[in-house]
Amino acid sequence: MRVAVAGATGRIGRLVWRALERRQHEVRPISRAHGVDVWSGEGLLGALAGVDVVVDVTNTTVTDEAAAVDFFDTATQQLLAAERSAGVSHHVVLSIAGVSRVRGNAHYAGKRAQEAAVTAGDIPYTIVPATQFHDFAEMVASWTEENGVALVPPLLVQPVAPSDVADVLAHVATNNPRGHHVDVAGPEVEDLVDMARRTLAARGRNVELVPSWHTGIFGVEMAGDVLLPSDGAHLAPTSFDAWLATVDGRASDSAREALGTSATVS
Ligand SMILES: NC(=O)c1ccc[n+]([C@@H]2O[C@H](COP(=O)([O-])OP(=O)(O)OC[C@H]3O[C@@H](n4cnc5c(N)ncnc54)[C@H](OP(=O)(O)O)[C@@H]3O)[C@@H](O)[C@H]2O)c1
Repeated sequence: MRVAVAGATGRIGRLVWRALERRQHEVRPISRAHGVDVWSGEGLLGALAGVDVVVDVTNTTVTDEAAAVDFFDTATQQLLAAERSAGVSHHVVLSIAGVSRVRGNAHYAGKRAQEAAVTAGDIPYTIVPATQFHDFAEMVASWTEENGVALVPPLLVQPVAPSDVADVLAHVATNNPRGHHVDVAGPEVEDLVDMARRTLAARGRNVELVPSWHTGIFGVEMAGDVLLPSDGAHLAPTSFDAWLATVDGRASDSAREALGTSATVS
């Protein structure tokens, strides 16, 4: 099949690209670095010519709710319109487990708008909600790190290996549309502060971590079990510890890929 990956240069996009190629599918990469802008629509029609399926793993770094909603809604409308013209038969989008349960977070509001646009559109779709990735704690700590101190919200999560999520997306993309997919999660519940501590230790970095709900990004609306996967979730095999064993002082992407992929899809 010919599969366009929107966000192909991103952290998950690169893994989806490789997962599809390992299965002998042809990948059409979409990103601004490839001259295609999903928000303005520039280059989209040409990029989707002859494409069977689109996998949307784009992202935005905006922290303002209106801007996040605008990015995900506009990009989805642009993608769906171009897909209609190009005759694309399946739109797959990566979402986040629990987006409908959390209010007050700009990124989550954007993801809800993205899901709503896909659901209201006329291209057959599959929405794949995933829990936080194994490298999420390290990323969150990096957002506030200053002078050797970082604030990390004490979130309860059930993190998943990015390579396992990429495998699920590649499988879904090359099968029939299913509407809402079950949540995709890792095998164990973890505390985000503890994950950050273990990841930074594995990288040989000495950062003081302060548990806090005042990071400006994740508030108490995300406390408790709201981020945990729903009943019946697909549990991917790679534990946080197994992923951590591949982490070294640099090159977390290559470490993740070195872990390989063995996810099966329920
Ligand atoms: N991190 C997690 O724990 C987690 C968990 C569940 C779901 N997710 C979801 O996973 C998705 C991908 O996250 P990520 O961390 O892999 O993202 P990322 O590394 O920031 O990559 C974003 C990708 O989107 C592309 N992009 C951004 N703006 C674009 C535009 N206007 N036109 C075309 N391409 C554009 C970027 O390429 P260019 O810059 O070259 O355009 C890049 O390829 C997000 O939607 C996120 O909500 C993340």
